[in-house]
Amino acid sequence: MRLNQCQNFHDFRRMARQRLPGPIFNYIDGAADDETTYRRNTEAFEACDLVPDVLRGVAQVDMSVTVMGQKLAMPVYCSPTALQRLFHHDGERAVAAAAGKFGTMFGVSSLGTVSLEEARKISGGPQVYQFYFHKDRGLNRDMMVRAKAAGVQVMMLTVDSITGGNRERDKRTGFAIPFRLNLAGIAQFAAKPAWALNYVTHERFRLPQLDGHVYMGGGAMSISRYFTDMLDPAMSWDDVADMVRQWGGQFCLKGIMSVEDAKRAVDIGCTGIVLSNHGGRQLDGSRSAFDQLAEIVDAVGDRIDVMMDGGVQRGTHVLKALALGAKAVGLGRYYLFPLGAAGQPGVERALDLMRIEIERAMKLMGCKTVAELQRRHLRFR
Ligand code: LAC
Repeated sequence: MRLNQCQNFHDFRRMARQRLPGPIFNYIDGAADDETTYRRNTEAFEACDLVPDVLRGVAQVDMSVTVMGQKLAMPVYCSPTALQRLFHHDGERAVAAAAGKFGTMFGVSSLGTVSLEEARKISGGPQVYQFYFHKDRGLNRDMMVRAKAAGVQVMMLTVDSITGGNRERDKRTGFAIPFRLNLAGIAQFAAKPAWALNYVTHERFRLPQLDGHVYMGGGAMSISRYFTDMLDPAMSWDDVADMVRQWGGQFCLKGIMSVEDAKRAVDIGCTGIVLSNHGGRQLDGSRSAFDQLAEIVDAVGDRIDVMMDGGVQRGTHVLKALALGAKAVGLGRYYLFPLGAAGQPGVERALDLMRIEIERAMKLMGCKTVAELQRRHLRFR
């Protein structure tokens, strides 16, 4: 399969599967327990029908949005995700550059493999810093100071990963960083020599956000162990309120699902929330963000920017979330498979296809602007 043959998420996923060693593909593709929430995330969009308007003079369509003080040329952004240089040797560099070209926001993760400072220099788009709250409070403080100094616009604290999700695919392959694979995992790497050659001929794998704090010299660390050993399960609303004050700028919580918590986020001064179940990778059985969106927008939508992610594969999915009141929609696997399949050109093609789909769908819905998309355009089965 070649890049210019990829027409949608499924094609990119197939191409990534051909290119990536099994343990890496399965790390991206996998989710927690029975992966019911992962499947449900996309099914939720499919259970909602669009009711279009016609004859609305849609020669020009403006899909730009403003979210958390950032003007985005399109209503989707690249959510921060971990370990991108494992998927392609350019990793975050490719995603930052592609997002910049499309005038949208991207994120660098605490578990990112390119430094947040370098990413900030590469991209013209607004940058989110995805923050994990570590037991080491000094590390937390340093990370905020670094992000501020680098010119990061939005702080995004992930609150749904207080412990690791049960990723059974990773357990089967022995996926960990750096690699500590079991025999089956090693065999899968050996089957993808082109990937392995790229990996060993490029700069050494690092976690620059955590340099000096995560000891990986002697062994490997699974994602699940990082969550369990390094993150602070005692993190509370008071801790977050302190962080919000310390940051003193755009601050959002990623992984809010209940109305109660959305209201607390408003109370402590957050400027945004991302409804998310972490792509189904944490609590299996969790409701989809899309199903939960209307309730949250009704409760707090006039006081805080509500975003959502999970299961977004099509422009029409984005339109449905916007019609319910989301200010912008996050993409995860949607750009990670293209990254794994083809690096920056892959991410650019995926964003371009998304842009074209959103534009076409807005025209077919009779909407010239995102504000014109409304709940009356939706019916739930
Ligand atoms: C994951 C974390 C690292 O889902 O965000 O793997």
